[in-house]
Amino acid sequence: MAQEMCLFLRVFKNNLVIMIKGDSTEYNLLEQWTKDFDCQGFMTAEIGVREGLGSKIMLDNLKNIYLHVGIDPYGNLKYQHYDDTGSYTCDYTDTMRDKLLEDMAVYKGKFRLYNDTDTNFMNDHDFVESKFTFVHFDGPHMTKDVLTESIWFANRTGPKTRFVFDDFPKYNMQLIRDCLKPFGFDIMDQGKNKICLEKQRLVM
Ligand SMILES: C[S@@+](CC[C@H](N)C(=O)[O-])C[C@H]1O[C@@H](n2cnc3c(N)ncnc32)[C@H](O)[C@@H]1O
Repeated sequence: MAQEMCLFLRVFKNNLVIMIKGDSTEYNLLEQWTKDFDCQGFMTAEIGVREGLGSKIMLDNLKNIYLHVGIDPYGNLKYQHYDDTGSYTCDYTDTMRDKLLEDMAVYKGKFRLYNDTDTNFMNDHDFVESKFTFVHFDGPHMTKDVLTESIWFANRTGPKTRFVFDDFPKYNMQLIRDCLKPFGFDIMDQGKNKICLEKQRLVM
């Protein structure tokens, strides 16, 4: 994550106020890019869920979602976060996952947590034939990982699709953008830390 910044949103559940936190920046942009975007009855995904603010914004603003999948192994894994750092653990614990599941219960039937890594998700037969029209890439932040995820999802898009990348200055976004061009994607809008690419034409 580029900068530690927490935002809080209130969700009312059985008259209780619960807080869903985010650790990133520019959630206003994510809100803008999701607002009323028609997912055309396809799936949506967020890679890297943490406490759930990104997924909550997607579920609250996107229209016509079949199912939103949050992909996150939690388990306080030790891994290399960026191209130029070593491996270290953060605070992505199973306790955090359990709280996330409680908080997201309000989205029953629309939200599913895939409690495993991006790699295992992409190798899971259940999703080989799935199609996604909005993806938030906010898990591992190494170029090779984001590139692999991007191409996997680019092969499984709907007619109109948006990809949002968090912390894009931390990896080689130019390379990822170039690789997504043949799939019909190009930059729609960008902030300092988040960038939105849209598939603007149908590639046969
Ligand atoms: C920056 S946080 C995500 C923040 C979240 N999107 C939000 O808006 O609040 C990164 C998350 O990526 C998860 N993560 C780490 N390695 C992963 C992997 N290989 N596949 C999927 N998620 C991973 C971590 O467990 C952590 O919860």
